[in-house]
Amino acid sequence: MSHLFTPFKLKDITLRNRIAVPPMCQYSAVDGIPNEWHLAHYAELARGGAGLVVVEATGVSPDGRISPACTGLWNDEQAAVHAKIADSIKKADSIPGIQIAHAGMKASANKPWEGDNHIPAENPVAWETIAPSAIPFGTEALNRVPRAMTRDDIARVQNDFAAAAKRAFEAGYQWLELHFAHGYLAQSFFSRHTNQRDDEYGGSAENRGRYLLETMAAVRNVWPENLPFTMRFGVLEFDGHDEETLQEAIALSKKFNQNGLDFMSVSMGFTTPKTNIPWGPAFLAPYARRVRNEVGMPVGSAWGFDTPTLADASVRNGDLDLVFVGRGHLVNPHWAYKAALDLGIEKPEQMLPDQRKFWLNRYKVRNS
Ligand code: NDP
Ligand code: FNR
Repeated sequence: MSHLFTPFKLKDITLRNRIAVPPMCQYSAVDGIPNEWHLAHYAELARGGAGLVVVEATGVSPDGRISPACTGLWNDEQAAVHAKIADSIKKADSIPGIQIAHAGMKASANKPWEGDNHIPAENPVAWETIAPSAIPFGTEALNRVPRAMTRDDIARVQNDFAAAAKRAFEAGYQWLELHFAHGYLAQSFFSRHTNQRDDEYGGSAENRGRYLLETMAAVRNVWPENLPFTMRFGVLEFDGHDEETLQEAIALSKKFNQNGLDFMSVSMGFTTPKTNIPWGPAFLAPYARRVRNEVGMPVGSAWGFDTPTLADASVRNGDLDLVFVGRGHLVNPHWAYKAALDLGIEKPEQMLPDQRKFWLNRYKVRNS
């Protein structure tokens, strides 16, 4: 029996299966406003059968975007297109989610296919970057020194997160993910590599977790209790200090859970380039499992779960509640349907829209 194709209920939301599309930046917006690319892209992903589609890292403010081409959710014009995206995902019987983000020290960069590097400060398109401390990420490409945030900056960004979450709900998203991973602003507060503050936001693990807990609380106040409230968080860096970081991350995750977090997408820190990441199939599974068991909160993860049997086993053996498949969906937006065929699920076409379901039921396709 397949476990990947069992429903997953969280709060008032039930996903039709355990397959989720993780957020993946498209670097295709203008002024933070999504457009026809995003509409087609997200509708297609939802039509392929995944239970959840999480829209890309979306800036809570102009300076929170990774690149000038990233989506935003700080004004009504952006929200109006997000409403269309959410609606198209719902119409395909998938659940629309969105990841809201502030890119911190990694903001103000060119899109990946135009350099993936910080835009030179003298270029009028660039903007000032902010972070807990004036410490750059440290690669040749991302070496701009951010300005250390004042308490007013912190309060401003936290208000921006709450405002974006409110807009996300009004636009029809039913699953909210805080981007607290991948070396962006929240992750950089948690990391010793990038947080060397000497005030109440730096130093001890408790202090380095403060910005994250406060931001989460600000959003918790505006995001409805009956809808999943989730976070992507890097619980280790593969920098040689992993057990210590993991223990601190798990202790903080318990507080997240006690303060109303429903689910965690377990990921990596990416706050330093000096890492030795053991890339390979499902390599984050043991860490996701630890968060799941030690915090007692449902989890998902990505990075190499894109083989149907592996994805299915990850749910069956209790590593994950949800399997995020990223690049697999870029290769084939019908990844979920194809996985159902591979796993021998009865009537796999049921997950597809009528326009496809009817024909694939009537005339079975072989070797699809
Ligand atoms: P990079 O893309 O610069 O990657 C950091 C290092 O990890 C590089 O050495 C890179 O190898 C390696 N690497 C990254 N992904 C893989 C992979 N799937 N398999 C094998 N090696 C990999 O780091 P970033 O900090 O920009 O991004 C970190 C991760 O997050 C990346 O996997 C990226 O795809 C993803 N990402 C996240 C975004 C977000 O959270 N908003 C936005 C865009 C991407 P190499 O030097 O060979 O490239
Ligand atoms: C990503 N990733 C990513 N992560 C995130 O938290 N927010 C984002 O917006 C993005 N953007 C993004 C864009 C693109 C083009 C890629 C390929 C990746 C990381 C992504 O969510 C996922 O973790 C990785 O792709 C690993 O999962 P797979 O691809 O191994 O299934």
